[in-house]
Amino acid sequence: MCGIFGIVTKDEQPLGPILIDAARRLTYRGYDSVGAATISGSKIDLRKDTGRVDDVAARYNFAEMTGQRGITQLRWATFGEPSQVNSQPHLDSDGDLVGAHNGNVVNNVELRQQFMAEGLTVRSQNDGESCVHAVERYINKGYDFIDAIRLAYGDLQGDYAFVIGRINDDKLYAIKKGSGLVVGIGGSFTCVSSDLPSILPLTREIMRIQDGEIITLWPDRVELRSVKDGSLISRNTETVTETMDAVQKGGYPHFMLKEIHEQPQVARELLHLLESNPDVQTMLEKMRTARQLYFVGCGTSYHACLAGAVFFAKIAGRAAIPVLAPQFVPQYAPAVNYEDVGLFVSQSGETKDVLNALQSGEEKGITSFGLANVIGSTLTKATSCTLPLCCGYEISVPATKTFTNQVVAFLYLAYRLAGRDTAELAVIPDLMEKTLEMVTPQVAAIAPAVNKWNDLYCLGYGATYAMALEGALKLKEITYAHCEGMLSTEFKHGPLSAVTKGFPILFAAGPLDVSLIVSGINEVTCRGARAIAIGEEDARLRANASDLIALPKSTPEIASLLAVLPLQLLSYQMSVMRGFDPDFPRNLSKTLTVD
Ligand code: AGP
Repeated sequence: MCGIFGIVTKDEQPLGPILIDAARRLTYRGYDSVGAATISGSKIDLRKDTGRVDDVAARYNFAEMTGQRGITQLRWATFGEPSQVNSQPHLDSDGDLVGAHNGNVVNNVELRQQFMAEGLTVRSQNDGESCVHAVERYINKGYDFIDAIRLAYGDLQGDYAFVIGRINDDKLYAIKKGSGLVVGIGGSFTCVSSDLPSILPLTREIMRIQDGEIITLWPDRVELRSVKDGSLISRNTETVTETMDAVQKGGYPHFMLKEIHEQPQVARELLHLLESNPDVQTMLEKMRTARQLYFVGCGTSYHACLAGAVFFAKIAGRAAIPVLAPQFVPQYAPAVNYEDVGLFVSQSGETKDVLNALQSGEEKGITSFGLANVIGSTLTKATSCTLPLCCGYEISVPATKTFTNQVVAFLYLAYRLAGRDTAELAVIPDLMEKTLEMVTPQVAAIAPAVNKWNDLYCLGYGATYAMALEGALKLKEITYAHCEGMLSTEFKHGPLSAVTKGFPILFAAGPLDVSLIVSGINEVTCRGARAIAIGEEDARLRANASDLIALPKSTPEIASLLAVLPLQLLSYQMSVMRGFDPDFPRNLSKTLTVD
């Protein structure tokens, strides 16, 4: 979480507009506060506060900021409440250094005490400030800047990246330890950022930084050094060819709605890519003979693992254990060995919980594979091979297109494992298009009534159980209502007592499970609940449910995938009705690089 961006130019110039734009493009990484600093000669101009980029930038007139170097930071609060003093960037004691970080310095509390005991001026509780003081303490002892950063690296525990600059210098310095960091090289500037969206509008020449590397940025070049011994590292630049359209809203009011409508296209691209990806075969061979097979993820990615385990069992007769990443560590890692395979699933490829699980499995010799959207992310480098999700940027915090592509990838792998013809899956993108077209008015018709409730349930069975959990997560994530996802058959074992007149319960019904779902529907409607079924047109669902959101006809597995689309749309519509911003729900971050 958190986003950083720094830029170095030749001469003093207006940097405010560049910093505002970079901050906007990193908003998905955190939006508790935003700050900007420019440095020129012996002057640092620092402005920061809680709030969204446009609001804070307007209040503090970031646009007028000039300098030869600039830094901006978007914060997702961990150490220290969201407040002006805890906002980043931070100054050192004398105001000669300014820096900002993303990630987490886990020994922040101990370090702050040490800094205070050493007579440094500590102004906040934030761990970004500790990064600045960690450098300052060694500058004060007479070390040169690079050595001071190297020593600071040894003191700062956790996973983070930070950028720092000082007065009377013409460079910025950055370091990476666990969190993403990319450098951009332009004609007359260089820049560094947590992620590409802030770099690509400025330059297409980039360099990916590895853990344990220190970067010095001049206006016309960058230098990489190893933190271990200070030795120079040589690295070629890469040219990024992706269009920037991917990071624009493309006419939709929100990224979430745009990303929901991109699902058919990204599914099409993924299916094409999987057909020609040699890693698929490698993964399948290992999965086929594995002693145990684990699907590991968090949040939405875990829900895809649940659906994947059902597909693997039903289609390929291969049992897989879906598990929440942090629970993998105590529940399975102690018992795994080299005969086992783990498929680690993550949109960002940076989720700390997933990386921890991966590490715990690898320590015991497990074969690890990845399924990730962000190529070049830590997960893609740490696993023996990773399949890409091919979704492009997913900006909206609620995952949509990356979830459906995770499910499509699982379905594809199950088909291949079973030796079934994957050409049968080519209908998925068109069916998704048809579903979006069919369900949009149906969802709009029920949304106002459902929106009156702040408590609801979303139930499913088999692969639609995963969709029910995912729908419930979307609903709570962006409407702030309490919504519980549950196996439909479990509802009678307790939650049934919540039912009152009109209480909304969504039932995702797979075509082969209609009889079972109809029983569940009757158990709640006879007690006054409003049962909203999601499934293919079926006389039994029509007769028993209060409402039916009808899906196009498909196969049982594809039907379960399609069932999540109306749930995504319902949560989106309710969020907008409530006046919330579905793209950036409160308290959340797209990339969770903390425990
Ligand atoms: C999904 O809408 C959420 N934003 C969240 O649950 C997310 O899926 C989870 O944090 C895992 O992220 P990852 O896929 O990047 O690992």
